[in-house]
Amino acid sequence: MIPMQEDLERVLFDEQTILRRLDELAAEISAEYQNRELTVIAILNGSFILMADLLRRIPLPLKLDCLSVASYHGGTKSTGEVVFKQIALPDVAGRHILILDDILDSGVTLAAIREKLVTNQPRSVKTCVLLRKLKERTRPVEADYVGFNIGDEFVVGYGLDYMEQYRNLPCIGVLRKDKILPQHDA
Ligand code: IMP
Ligand code: MG
Repeated sequence: MIPMQEDLERVLFDEQTILRRLDELAAEISAEYQNRELTVIAILNGSFILMADLLRRIPLPLKLDCLSVASYHGGTKSTGEVVFKQIALPDVAGRHILILDDILDSGVTLAAIREKLVTNQPRSVKTCVLLRKLKERTRPVEADYVGFNIGDEFVVGYGLDYMEQYRNLPCIGVLRKDKILPQHDA
C-alpha cells in the first residue's frame, strides 16, 4: 500500500474498477457522438486524470479545451462561488459540447459552467462526471454520463484533492476525518 493510502478511511473504487467503468462510459459516449464532431471541455484541476484515461478510450476525432475553475478554496464544502481562472472561454459556438468534471456535489460548479457556455450558443451540451454524490443539490443540475454514485462523503484520489493533495492517488477513497482540519469539518 502506498503511504498516502493510509490517510483513507476506506477505498471506494480501486484503479481497475475505475478503468473498467471508463471502458463502459467511453463506449456509450462513442456511440452517441459517432456521427457528430465532439468537443470535450474538461474542468481542471479535478478532471485531469479522468480526462486522460477516458479520452484515450474514445476512438473518435474530437477537440479538447480545458477550463480552470475553483469552487472549494481549500475546504471540504463548496463555497457557492465559482471562480473562472481564465479570461477567454473556449469558442463553443455551433459545437457539440461534452463537459467533463470529476464530481457532481452541490451542482454549483456545473450549473455555472453550463450557464457560461450556453451564452455562446453551442449546438448541444451534455455533461459527464466520474462521481455523483447522492444528495440534495444547491443547483438543480443533472449529469448525462455518470461513472459512480456515492454517498455524501468527502473523497479524494484519481484527480480529486483535499487542499491540493491526493490527486495522484490511483484509487478513490473516503478521507479519514482526522486528516481534515477542524475548520473544514462541518
Ligand atoms: P460542486 O460545485 O459543489 O458540485 O462541487 C464541484 C467541485 O468541488 C468538484 O469539481 C470538486 O473539485 C470539488 N468537490 C466536491 N466534492 C468533493 C469531494 O468529495 N472531494 C474532493 N473534491 C470535491
Ligand atoms: Mg478540488
